[in-house]
Amino acid sequence: MWLAPRHNVAMPSILPLDDRSIAIAVEHIRAGRLVAFPTETVYGLGGDATNGAAVAAIFEAKGRPRFNPLIVHVPDMIAARRIGDFDKRTEELASRFWPGPLTLVVKRRADSGISELASAGLETVAIRMPADRGARTFLAEANRPLAAPSANRSGKISPTTAQHVADELGDAVALILDGGACEVGLESTVLDMSGETPVLLRPGGAALEELEEALGRKIEIAGPGAAIASPGMLESHYAPGLPLRMEAARAAAGEALLGFGPAPAATLNLSESGDMREAAANLFAMLRTLDRPDFAAIAVMPIPEQGLGRAINDRLRRAAAPRC
Ligand code: TXA
Ligand code: MG
Repeated sequence: MWLAPRHNVAMPSILPLDDRSIAIAVEHIRAGRLVAFPTETVYGLGGDATNGAAVAAIFEAKGRPRFNPLIVHVPDMIAARRIGDFDKRTEELASRFWPGPLTLVVKRRADSGISELASAGLETVAIRMPADRGARTFLAEANRPLAAPSANRSGKISPTTAQHVADELGDAVALILDGGACEVGLESTVLDMSGETPVLLRPGGAALEELEEALGRKIEIAGPGAAIASPGMLESHYAPGLPLRMEAARAAAGEALLGFGPAPAATLNLSESGDMREAAANLFAMLRTLDRPDFAAIAVMPIPEQGLGRAINDRLRRAAAPRC
């Protein structure tokens, strides 16, 4: 398969979405590169959700100062059930609203294969089956779930055309599949079905009233002051049980040392070569591994406050913050 060379020109390649461009896009995804693709809501910045480095590259391309959990996109229900647990009411919602602009947050399966970074270390995972035919063909051909936030730089408006994506992301993305303007033009509704009570985490393309009608009950609405907030809004959404301390030069007695860069004494190392993508991809999984009662605390070596390092440090600061 011929692949477009990666060069330093700021313009990424844009190809009309068809069988040929999908085949090229799939090669990029398998190689861990990013592909922007149209959905009925907004353009997504897609990467292999099972590849931690690809997911880290998504955060890097967006310039996200934080690791918020991402939506995992699937072509069909079989793929969705491999990733999350669907109870009866959630299956019913999926059969009624999918494919479409609804994202369902469900309990993540232990064998989902989804990178911990994609779901930001949470026990849940957000799944969506887009309605756009081209998007679903791409997902089916990729034959792996794609993590895809909106394909804009962090804090900017979501893109609804291929040109918007090119203007914002430049060559951080290997290829942009052009499927024309998005039909809905607004992100999907995010509904948390992982607990007893369904909670609306983000209003979007699927109407709240229709969801309530389908569920036969009221949906709680998350937000500032509400009992439950979306992880992106929370001060802390994954903190280890153990105390955590940053900027550690070495471990004190009883502490586990989480290294970065050359560190022979580290219990685990986020990246011996100091590679930020590798470190981001390892972060949540390594915190979990070290969160064991045989350690007194987790000491983390300094991580430069630049690029993905800002998001890594943001997450570590939250994990180190006093617990309430
Ligand atoms: O329309 C859309 O949903 C677009 C297209 C590309 O599909 N995607 C999108 O993704 O808007 P993103 O990453 O920008 O938004 C993800 C939202 C955030 O509000 C995040 O907090 C929430 O989904 N989310 C993701 N995983 C979650 C989880 N496990 N629990 C709760 N909320 C989650
Ligand atoms: Mg967004």
